[in-house]
Amino acid sequence: MHGRATDADPAFRADVLAGLSAPIKAVPARWLYDLRGSELFEEITRLPEYYPTRVETGLLERHCGEVAEIAGTGDAVVEFGSGSSTKTPILLRAVAPSAYVPIDISGAFLREAADALRGRFPDLPIHPVEGDFMRAIALPREIEGATRLGFFPGSTIGNMVARTAVDLLRAMKDTLGVGAFLLIGMDRIKQVDVLLRAYDDAAGVTAEFNLNLLRRINRELEGNVPVDRFRHRALWNDALARIEMHLEAMADVAFTVAGRRFEMKAGETIHTENSHKYGVREARLLLAAAGWGVAKEWTDAEERFALLLARAEPPRSAP
Ligand code: SAH
Ligand code: AVI
Repeated sequence: MHGRATDADPAFRADVLAGLSAPIKAVPARWLYDLRGSELFEEITRLPEYYPTRVETGLLERHCGEVAEIAGTGDAVVEFGSGSSTKTPILLRAVAPSAYVPIDISGAFLREAADALRGRFPDLPIHPVEGDFMRAIALPREIEGATRLGFFPGSTIGNMVARTAVDLLRAMKDTLGVGAFLLIGMDRIKQVDVLLRAYDDAAGVTAEFNLNLLRRINRELEGNVPVDRFRHRALWNDALARIEMHLEAMADVAFTVAGRRFEMKAGETIHTENSHKYGVREARLLLAAAGWGVAKEWTDAEERFALLLARAEPPRSAP
């Protein structure tokens, strides 16, 4: 846990200072998840407008039996960006894993989730790993030699631009091993009004989730950003098939963060998140670019969300 500028995560400090100094201001989305941010995301998953969690949960309930038939049982399940691990029990019950390794950057929230899961699966070894899955992560020694099933739900892959997503999927392949399976959720392209409502809900929870980044900067980096002068903006970028979240200054503002002064004009924004949406072919192309073939794919009747069971392919020469 990081509370003051002096003991703040140096990577957070570096990303915020670099991001606010750039000509187009942006802060990487992973910093949305301090303890408060993780709690707010949980609230988002229960909003009527935020369909992804409900639809993906339905897909898992319907198809995890088939996942077990194809991928087998008894592997160690490694989950990337596990958050509250709310959907995970559906998979765990189907594949009877030898161990469960949830990985998340939001440490306190991760440990709470792991403790809750231990209560529900007392015989399952659970080894939480706090860390940034974009960097090399050492998996716990306890699962050395175990075959692995990767789990990457929630369309968290959509929070990365294609190049970063491919880097991550390739790193996952190295972590999980040739022949391993990866069960991944990907949100589909759909009507813009449905997407916009999902990222700008009537109760203002997504706005609070976004604005919490400024509060976190003030808390952890000795900032004095005037949070009440900013508003949440969600927009659809059609060319890049993604929802973008921004924090827009509603007036000219000046503030300091970690001793550095910044100015923003009214209307200027800080870009805080991308949430890419995928068609059938784009999803497969992204996986293929990182060396994953698709063994099976499921979607709901309205094709709002897709669950893909990918398999790490051995290296092969073209064509
Ligand atoms: N898997 C859950 C949570 C999705 S929210 C679900 O499907 O509902 C995204 C999760 O990824 C959060 O818990 C966040 O803390 C975590 N996360 C985001 N960026 C991360 C990173 N770079 N490394 C590790 N965890 C990350
Ligand atoms: C975690 N991630 C996939 C969520 C999404 O839909 O992009 C985060 C989120 N941002 C706003 N609402 C939800």
